[in-house]
Amino acid sequence: MYKQTKTGEYMRIDIITVLPELIEPFTRESILGRAQKKGLAEIHVHNLRDYTADKHKRVDDYPFGGAAGMLIQCQPLDACISALKAERKYDEIIFTAPDGETFNQPMANELSLKENIIIICGHYKGIDYRIREHLITREVSIGDYVLTGGELAAAVMADSIVRVIPGVIGDVESALSDSFQDNLLEPPVYTRPAQYHPVSNPEETWAVPDILLSGHEAKIREWEYEQAVARTKRLRPDLLE
Ligand code: ADE
Repeated sequence: MYKQTKTGEYMRIDIITVLPELIEPFTRESILGRAQKKGLAEIHVHNLRDYTADKHKRVDDYPFGGAAGMLIQCQPLDACISALKAERKYDEIIFTAPDGETFNQPMANELSLKENIIIICGHYKGIDYRIREHLITREVSIGDYVLTGGELAAAVMADSIVRVIPGVIGDVESALSDSFQDNLLEPPVYTRPAQYHPVSNPEETWAVPDILLSGHEAKIREWEYEQAVARTKRLRPDLLE
């Protein structure tokens, strides 16, 4: 079982994007909004266009060698990253890319222990490779499919990183007992009523497993564990290998 060790500090995530309007509202709501109100995290979104030296505010150009699509240029990314680095030390400078290492729960846990991280959202056909060679410390994909931009990937990562910071979710246990924290999917969960009659056939009864109503704490935990193992075997056998 994963244990959080960082206490009493807040985490700062800087997100660099050409579409701040896409990601800013997300950072103000839900778990990210709550973490910021509690003073446990800070998310700052930076518009890459604010850092371009181009008088037309362009941040992209054609790739050398005639490949299709556009690339984000070195200059605005270098300027933005340098401005941030002048203010504080960063533990990781992450680039979102479909060819990066695959994001997962252990990576979210690990990144939640950092103090300051930058996430750069890729766009168009990507970014000038020199930025990846010289400034990026980690390249991360959220799965084997191609998104139009890295904003959704940055939002996914920020959400899952921030939710495991102690105190962000009221009940710490609730984040630490999530699916994947111990390589097991969650057991089935139910709420009231214990007997439900579906709209399509009110004669029918969908009942909650008796064990959950038994009040027998130890037996319930045992049942939940067996169910978690059974669901993992059926749906994600790779997690048990
Ligand atoms: N940008 C485009 N596709 C991506 C993916 N799958 N993960 C992270 N960033 C991406």
